[in-house]
Order: sequence, then structure tokens, then C-alpha cells
Amino acid sequence: MKSLPDLTPFVNIIKEGGVVAFPTETVYGLGADARNPVAIQKVFETKGRPVDNPLIVHLSDTKMVHDFATDIPEAAKLLMKHFWPGPITLVLNKKEEILDSVTAGLPTVALRIPSNPLALEFIKQTGPLVAPSANHSGKPSPTQAKHVKEDFGDEFPVIDGGITNIGLESTVIGFEDDHITLMRPGKIGADEIESVTGLKVRSDHMNEQETPKSPGQKYSHYKPKADVVYKGVSAFNDHTLYVMQTAPEVKQNNVICYEGDLKQLSKELYDRFRQADQQGYHRVHIEPFEEHKAEYPAYYEALINRIRKTLG
Ligand code: TXA
Ligand code: MG
Repeated sequence: MKSLPDLTPFVNIIKEGGVVAFPTETVYGLGADARNPVAIQKVFETKGRPVDNPLIVHLSDTKMVHDFATDIPEAAKLLMKHFWPGPITLVLNKKEEILDSVTAGLPTVALRIPSNPLALEFIKQTGPLVAPSANHSGKPSPTQAKHVKEDFGDEFPVIDGGITNIGLESTVIGFEDDHITLMRPGKIGADEIESVTGLKVRSDHMNEQETPKSPGQKYSHYKPKADVVYKGVSAFNDHTLYVMQTAPEVKQNNVICYEGDLKQLSKELYDRFRQADQQGYHRVHIEPFEEHKAEYPAYYEALINRIRKTLG
């Protein structure tokens, strides 16, 4: 096993009230001490994030949950046991003393334990961290250290953990008396959540005209400058970057091919959006991938959710 790098300089930045980007298994996060209001203010300033959009608190041990949340439902305990460390965020009733800037004044707090070993070790050394995705608000989430530097500058402190494994943000869920609300779909899907808890999962992210339960769902985080279209490809033009399942017969330089593997597409989608903008494409044309829904239903839902936010 590869040994982990020395994180001390990064840990010191957090302890001094600064912000550090670090890799998780989903996307890179912009970490700051969850109990330091000045550090949290820096997170909002760095990202240009609306203050009504609450943050996820990242922990390194389930014991720490009780420092942040109360009235923890049985279903939440089961999910923690089953999926943590991992890419699912639980929205729970918050403890009185949690800063309003973390929860945007909501009575709940979002918690997760990431599984990336660098993230876990970092949080072990710093204590609980708020960590929104480490991008400028309105840009695609970063899946590589260089994406963070594109947004925040070359000198920005980033723990480089290579390309993140999943590439789309964690599943976010909340708890009602008789069901679970899916606020943001991710790698851990409704089926798995239902089979672990025995509760029905209802989607909140679908009806976005109403007030969503998860404030972040109303913002189109993921929009590149290029237009995004999701439909069959009938002809090619030079101003468009095509994201296709299989390569066309006549070789095209502006076609990215992921062989119908939705895991692969999830891993590279945000990088493709950034690539399109950097290379001056006017459009990203994504070929529909419905036929792979049954293979990876959770990745499918998460991809469609992110792509829908960029259409238009
Ligand atoms: O995978 C992830 O979750 C990444 C990595 C870094 O862990 N983080 C991430 O954070 O995606 P962010 O801030 O980009 O997205 C957090 C989402 C937002 O949609 C926010 O509205 C929602 O979680 N959220 C946070 N606290 C909430 C709460 N108390 N109630 C409802 N939704 C909440
Ligand atoms: Mg984000």
C-alpha cells in the first residue's frame, strides 16, 4: 500500500482558520474548520457561494455525529453503518450550537464521512470540516487538483489525490416519519437505500419549480459556458464536442467516447465540460444513454440530474 503524504502544512492552514482543497471519492472539497465562523466565511467568499446554500460537514468517525446532530432516526444509523465511509450525505436535526453559516439557518445539518483515504486522514488530523465542492459557484465541480487551481489560482493549497473515483457529488437524503427524501441523486441509489432501511425513497429533486428541500438544487452549479444538448447525433460540426458511447465510423477529433460505461462517463463528465470551455467549443453534445440505465441505475439518475441542470 502507498503511504500517505505528510499533511502537516495543510492541517496547519486549517488550524489557522484558512481553507484547503482536498480530494474525496466524489469530487474535491474546499475544507474549512466547521466550528470557525471566520474560516467558513472564507469558504463562501472563495467560492462566491450564495449564503442561503448550506454546507456539508465532513467527519472521520461516526462517533462525531452526536456533536452535530440530535434525534438520529434508526434508518440513518443503518445507513451510516452500511455506507460510511462513503458517498452519501445525511441531513439530520442539528444541535443548537452549530453555526448558522454552516446550515444557512436551517434546523438541519448535512453530514458525511468520505471514504478517500487522504480525506479521512486529513479530517482525522483537523477535526470536522465543512467542504463544499472546490469550484467557483456556477462552475462544474472539480475532479482533479488542476481544476481547483483553474478556479482559485496556481498558489491555492490543494492536496493532490489524482482523479477522483466517482466524479459526481454524493447522494443527499433527508428523513421523514414514513419515508426518505432523495434531495440529490448520487452513486448510492434509491434501491440500495430502500433495501438497507426498509423505507420508501421519494425524490425531491424532480419537481424543481417548487421550493426544493435541499437549497443547492435550485442553483445550476454545473453549467459550462458551452451549451449542452442531450439528443441523438445525426451530423458533426467543428464547434461541438461530442460525448458518445461508441466512436463514429469516420474518425472525428472532437468526439469523446466512453464505450457506454456510465461509471466512466460520471468520472469524466465535469472534465469534459471544462475541456469544452478551454478549447472554445460552443456546444457539448451528449448522446442519450437510456439503454444503460438498468446496468447502473444510480449513476444514470445522477448523470441525468446533473445534465438536466446544464441544458438550454
Ligand atoms: O460529494 C459531495 O457531497 C462533495 C464532497 C466535497 O464531499 N460536496 C458537495 O458539497 O457537493 P456542495 O456544497 O457542493 O453541495 C452540498 C449540497 C447542496 O446541494 C446543499 O444545498 C445541500 O448539500 N445541503 C447542505 N446542507 C443541507 C441541509 N441542511 N438541508 C438540505 N440540503 C443541504
Ligand atoms: Mg457544489
